[in-house]
Amino acid sequence: MEYFTTTSKASRRAVDCVIVGIYERGKLGIGAENVDAASKGALKRLTKSGDLPAQAGSCTMLNGLTGVRAPRIAVVGLGKTSEYSAAKFVAATAAAVGAISQTKAKSVLNCLTLEPCDESSAYYLARHTAQAVADKLYRYTETKSDRKTKTSSLRQVGVALTRPGDAKKAKLGLKHGDAIGTGVSLAKELGNLPANVCTPSHLARTAQKLARDNAKLQTKILNEADMKRLGMHSLLSVGHGSDQASKLIVMHYKGASKQKPVVLVGKGVTFDTGGISLKPGAGMDEMKFDMCGAAGVIGTMATIAKLQLPINLNVVVPAVENMPSGRASKPGDIFTSMSGQTVEVLNTDAEGRLILCDALTYSRRFKPEAIIDVATLTGACVIALGHHRSGVMSRNPELASGIVAAGEAANDLAWQLPLDEEYGQTLKSNFADLANVGGRAAGAITAGCFLAKFTSGLNWAHMDIAGTAWTSGKQKGASGRPVPLLTEFLLDRCGALP
Ligand code: BES
Ligand code: MN
Ligand code: ZN
Repeated sequence: MEYFTTTSKASRRAVDCVIVGIYERGKLGIGAENVDAASKGALKRLTKSGDLPAQAGSCTMLNGLTGVRAPRIAVVGLGKTSEYSAAKFVAATAAAVGAISQTKAKSVLNCLTLEPCDESSAYYLARHTAQAVADKLYRYTETKSDRKTKTSSLRQVGVALTRPGDAKKAKLGLKHGDAIGTGVSLAKELGNLPANVCTPSHLARTAQKLARDNAKLQTKILNEADMKRLGMHSLLSVGHGSDQASKLIVMHYKGASKQKPVVLVGKGVTFDTGGISLKPGAGMDEMKFDMCGAAGVIGTMATIAKLQLPINLNVVVPAVENMPSGRASKPGDIFTSMSGQTVEVLNTDAEGRLILCDALTYSRRFKPEAIIDVATLTGACVIALGHHRSGVMSRNPELASGIVAAGEAANDLAWQLPLDEEYGQTLKSNFADLANVGGRAAGAITAGCFLAKFTSGLNWAHMDIAGTAWTSGKQKGASGRPVPLLTEFLLDRCGALP
């Protein structure tokens, strides 16, 4: 995709489509006013006749308006003037791009960037335009027989600027948005692939491929023998029932000289049957998405490497398949983790924490400045926060608020849950140092407390993305979250934001 910025008026730019907005009660946005004036009142006539809906998210495509250079005008509803915000801007841009992607338009100019809102910086408006384009143009085709057809015609995307002086920041926003789009699309693709394709080995190959195109990036894959030597028996126990070999994927991106790295750890359960504590059958296909934490951190790495950011970043992905079999671990089995702590596996379906704890212990060798694990860890987090915000837990309030703030800025929302040690009381075992499950109460937090037992002394946070990593139902598919949040966090850390 090519990007540009322009100060041309909506009616004057020769592109295949221009996006303008209309508020409720027929108030035209800035681009729409300009198109209306150039077309001798065409838009106002349509609003009067009630043919131009202004509800947030609606999009009407107008063709061949006289006096306007672009053959198509996408008029998108912005809702109430008083409620217009950056989030509405993102939703409106996405709705317009979705509609435009169904046409033959090759070039588009977004004029919604001219509308004032709570976040009017040219950087964010441009960045969100590029992100929305990537988000809407992503199509899953890999396992469909007609996979070569039906790609969108869109090749050029521009953002309209009020001031020519904003061009530099807008261009940076477009560059960052495009790179985030790449990472989000990679995360979606890995999430969407079926578990018979996206195995632990497939995740490992994907990470290796990324490193091949990038001098600053290296990937190392540890196999089961390597992990055994390191004493990662908690991680290995989860793969015991599977015919797929478990892998530990380790990626190093070196963009700065002496500087402690940020480490991202992603849960990579390529399919979670629950193991011997078997899950019910209904909807079990969605457990192919149980590697979305891995997809999110690998996607973030792809974004950072594409931008060549001046930061050191490591990604660690424990990749396993959780299956029942004669070799599978059983409720009550006890394993020694890499940390030396023994764990009683009371429920083989609480497998995420069993692989993460060893990946976290392994990550200590990098002496991280900050370490964040990302996991589709608990159904309880979905009950607590639904599908709108990811959960954030940390015993470092600064790190937690940094992550939540990054989510706000990136429009990839998160919310902090408490992580008091008291919640961890339920993880006691009569036979091991700790049990892998507490009770039903505060399930997302007790899972966090389990991980906290392996991260003492580290500047660590845990993100539970069980509710946000994918959408169920008719629109079933991975979301690519939290790539935008994590990238924002890292952009901020290395001073790359304007
Ligand atoms: N991968 C699941 C969590 C999950 C469930 C994510 C549904 C999204 C939707 C995880 O491995 C799991 O099974 N967790 C158990 C933990 C329980 C046994 C303590 C859960 O949430 O039920
Ligand atoms: Mn499970
Ligand atoms: Zn799981």
